[in-house]
Amino acid sequence: MQVIDTLSELRLARKGLSGTIGLVPTMGALHAGHYALMEQARGENDQVIATIFINPLQFAPTEDLSTYPRDLPNDLKLLESAGVDLVFTPTPAIMYPADFQTAVEVSRIAQGLEGGQRPGHFRGVTTVVSKLFNLTQPDRAYFGQKDAQQVAVIRRMVYDLNFPLEVVVCPTVRAEDGLALSSRNAYLTSEQRQAAPVLYRAMRSAGDAYDQGERDPNRLRAILEAIVEAEPLADLEYASITNAQTLAELQQPTDQAMLLSMAVRIGRARLIDNLLLPLSLNDRSGLSIALANPEYQ
Ligand code: PAF
Repeated sequence: MQVIDTLSELRLARKGLSGTIGLVPTMGALHAGHYALMEQARGENDQVIATIFINPLQFAPTEDLSTYPRDLPNDLKLLESAGVDLVFTPTPAIMYPADFQTAVEVSRIAQGLEGGQRPGHFRGVTTVVSKLFNLTQPDRAYFGQKDAQQVAVIRRMVYDLNFPLEVVVCPTVRAEDGLALSSRNAYLTSEQRQAAPVLYRAMRSAGDAYDQGERDPNRLRAILEAIVEAEPLADLEYASITNAQTLAELQQPTDQAMLLSMAVRIGRARLIDNLLLPLSLNDRSGLSIALANPEYQ
């Protein structure tokens, strides 16, 4: 596995790679969720490139850029064991040289949910991801369902800007108690960690109600809110029921696929999670249909 941190080395190494390329962009502090992305990329491409870059552009000044977990030695071990061919680990100065002046911004689909709570976040994501696409020229790029809006925003950008690649979305990897794996789970104390599965519990309860015929988004939203509000350590930021493809907030009952999304603060950790309804859509093949806007094909 080659580990590279300059643009010139990356360009040279990329020229030496032949066949199809799978790209897995990450911010490091890698866990089993990232490993699953690498594995899928490994199975579907001749070469796999991973990037580790904590992108300052996607953090607001009040957020956790300076404390975001970092563990490069461990990350490299995981990437090696996943069979990654090339790892790019640039510094902020390499990605954003002095007087950097360009941004890539997706509008409507980036505005609600995470975009509503974190103004500028997706502008940072799409700017760095488009740079990584240009630098690595992948055939496929892999992202996790846990950041479902990020997937939708990146898909919109890929379609709108004609990036010649496929965006692949992989199912959320969860701990046994349902907590979605996330680098930010490291912020939880042991007591907070015990409270954290409340997001999954709430979404599963809404899912059970859906299975029993409930299609009213207001009643499903109320289930999410009631369960999180009953957990003393949890502070609900939002609970949302949207159309799975457009991410438009739903007010009327519908049989179309829905996306339940939540952001909850527990101590220092801001946890996000989501689930598609019907629940059968949360596997690899369901996801690729439910989260893909047919207009982009
Ligand atoms: O999902 C992430 O880890 C980041 O948003 C990404 C896609 C690597 C861009 O910095």
